[in-house]
Amino acid sequence: MAILNLKEAAVNGKVSQGSVLINTPPLVRSGKKNDYMVGQFLSPDDSYEFKIWEEDIFSIVRANGTGIYDVEVIGADFNGFYFTVKKIEPSHDKNISKHDFLPSIPRDYINNQWRETVKRLSSKGVSDTCWGIVQEVITDPELENRFTVEGAAVFYHDNKIGGLVNHTTKMLNILASLLDNNRELRECSDLLAFSITVHDIGKVFEYQDLAPSEFWYANHRVRGIEFLAKYKEKIIDLYDETFYRQVQSVISGHHGDFGDRPTSVAAGIVHYIDTLESQTTSLIEAVNTAKTDRIRYADWGFLEPLPIGKFKPIPEDSPEALESYFIDQK
Ligand SMILES: [Fe+2]
Ligand SMILES: [Fe+2]
Repeated sequence: MAILNLKEAAVNGKVSQGSVLINTPPLVRSGKKNDYMVGQFLSPDDSYEFKIWEEDIFSIVRANGTGIYDVEVIGADFNGFYFTVKKIEPSHDKNISKHDFLPSIPRDYINNQWRETVKRLSSKGVSDTCWGIVQEVITDPELENRFTVEGAAVFYHDNKIGGLVNHTTKMLNILASLLDNNRELRECSDLLAFSITVHDIGKVFEYQDLAPSEFWYANHRVRGIEFLAKYKEKIIDLYDETFYRQVQSVISGHHGDFGDRPTSVAAGIVHYIDTLESQTTSLIEAVNTAKTDRIRYADWGFLEPLPIGKFKPIPEDSPEALESYFIDQK
């Protein structure tokens, strides 16, 4: 069976057949009458929610776990878009693999963004010593090059191949703006840049190809601190023990109220940068995947999307453009 083009299939009432990837274990929830299953299909464009209402159908997924399935689905729209699964069975097609389904961020884009960010931060005080240790840590053989490959999340934001380094780079860019706004932070620019780079590095161990790894429950904050311990002497030699302990506090406290509470100002700042970056990205992802005019988002219910492409363009020589030109000149 051919891979199902989920983007084309995602139309209310449309019936489609094809192969899909269920990459993370779906949940069984209690409904008004019966239990039902909720999960995600992953495709190179995005992830799409599916629901299975009949127990004899979702028991097939329960028995076989995550993997590639051949399905028949119908698009449905009730409090947001999802697919209702009518038929499902494990795929036996040897010509398709999990990697045909995983969304990814183009490598050139990631490399360019990283280079630009390093340049930007260097001009605001981040030292070559810092970039040296950053380079050494992110290319550590134990990470198997997966810092630039793994996703930043299984759901929610940057859940794509390359998502972890993309999320980290965007946070470093927010730091660059903070170093402009709050000049007194520049004295600690190495500490903040290094801490941001490693704050989620443990996700390399928490996830595997955008799915929870075998030992996901020892979360990325724990695994990040454990991984970095091998650089303890080196970091203390380059800086001092305060620097090393502050980095540890950032890794452990960067989830704010959703984990160990921050115990240093650095952890508090990185937590706010992390929240701003991940929430902005997930709002934009919600807009990009919305099937209707409004988007449903987290605890806030329906949101009106940004009016992208909805403003009337003003021709350059129109009376309005001339008027605004003269107003601007005043
Ligand atoms: Fe995190
Ligand atoms: Fe993060």
